[in-house]
Amino acid sequence: MFPRGFLWGTATASHQVEGNNKNNNWWAWEQEPGRIAGGGKSGLACDWWGGRWREDFDRAAQSGQNAHRLSVEWSRVQPSPDRWDEDALDHYREMVRGLVERDLTPLVTLHHFTEPVWFSEKGGWEAEDAPALFAAYVEKVVEALKEYASLWCTINEPNVLAAEAYFLGLWPPGKRDFRAMQRVMLALGMAHGAAWEAIRERQPVSRIGMAVQYRGFQPARSWNPLDRMVAAGYGRIFNSFYPRLLTEGVAPLPAGRRRIQKLAGTHDYLGLNYYTTDNVSFNLRHYREAFTRRYYPEGASLSPSGFIANRPEGLQQAVRWGRQFGRPMIITENGVEDAQDRLRPRYLVEHVHQIWRAVNQNVPVKGYFHWTLTDNFEWERGWEQRFGLWELDPESQARRKRASADLYAEICKANAIPSDVVERYAPDVHREIFPV
Ligand code: IFM
Repeated sequence: MFPRGFLWGTATASHQVEGNNKNNNWWAWEQEPGRIAGGGKSGLACDWWGGRWREDFDRAAQSGQNAHRLSVEWSRVQPSPDRWDEDALDHYREMVRGLVERDLTPLVTLHHFTEPVWFSEKGGWEAEDAPALFAAYVEKVVEALKEYASLWCTINEPNVLAAEAYFLGLWPPGKRDFRAMQRVMLALGMAHGAAWEAIRERQPVSRIGMAVQYRGFQPARSWNPLDRMVAAGYGRIFNSFYPRLLTEGVAPLPAGRRRIQKLAGTHDYLGLNYYTTDNVSFNLRHYREAFTRRYYPEGASLSPSGFIANRPEGLQQAVRWGRQFGRPMIITENGVEDAQDRLRPRYLVEHVHQIWRAVNQNVPVKGYFHWTLTDNFEWERGWEQRFGLWELDPESQARRKRASADLYAEICKANAIPSDVVERYAPDVHREIFPV
């Protein structure tokens, strides 16, 4: 069994599900040739802005989920620097109330990769006043939603955003600039701090956190000090940067440590998005990646596009590592792209099993949000990756349930991993999970 009150849900993000988010930096980026795999565009996405959130929330509630993580789109709430869109705020109020009415505890994310075009034009996260601008938007959202929501995620995966958008150049604004990445890492930390204050002031009972992506970095040769060194280095920058900053007020930047005392103690829970683990080895040819080669081990069980390897033990390591920050943890995302639903049942059972092992050893994990409810727009990978428990045809908007949706429903309803359910949906891992 899982503890009473454990949160079971799915996670979504505004730009990936709402459709017609025309006023943000991603919409503009999608129009540029070559940016998105297969020329994909977010388009109507899952048409939540058109009202289909109702049927998808019904699906979640009927499947035994008791929580849902969704995000608010800044560009809708503040379409221009001097204008707040009250209709958009009402729309979000209706959605979040819709969750509560279905007994789904809302976890509201305030920034999930997208920002208004006007904000990007002012310099985005490199502009001096970026954290203050973000905080002003957060104030509006919290005022509008605080009647229904008290669990907040300020920023989703700032570690991924800074790397993809400012170092790898794959996301808007498409920069490949290590110094810019470091500036943005700090700015996102400051934005979190400003949002923390804005929320707390308006809602003293709130629980506030950030969702970082934790990626496992496993030294390829455990005896090799150089492999261990690069694995630790990646872990320090990618995984630990924000949890340390929000706990101790220390920013371990590659260029040196910075103390930002006012950020110490600015989170109530640690949100972890976990998908996979890399093997890493020191390699002189990979100088652009800090002399590190990252790869999946031979024979790893891979998702259809090779994007994710099924390495559930990494989730166990993640939550054990996370204990050092002294906060309860929530698995704010975990899932796999798998249109045919061949790997997902096993992936799901094995990852939830790792959480079960941890909570039974008193590791404070309070919830699990599967990524995702319905197939959605997957950023630079467009529609080529399908993460949904429900399959979506974006043209017709038809949904079709995958077997994993039923599997997950059985887990949520039982608040446990029933043996007969594993036998039915993922028989190949039954012996591993229930050893005789
Ligand atoms: O779709 C994304 C999500 O927006 C952030 N975390 C990873 C997911 C899967 O790629």
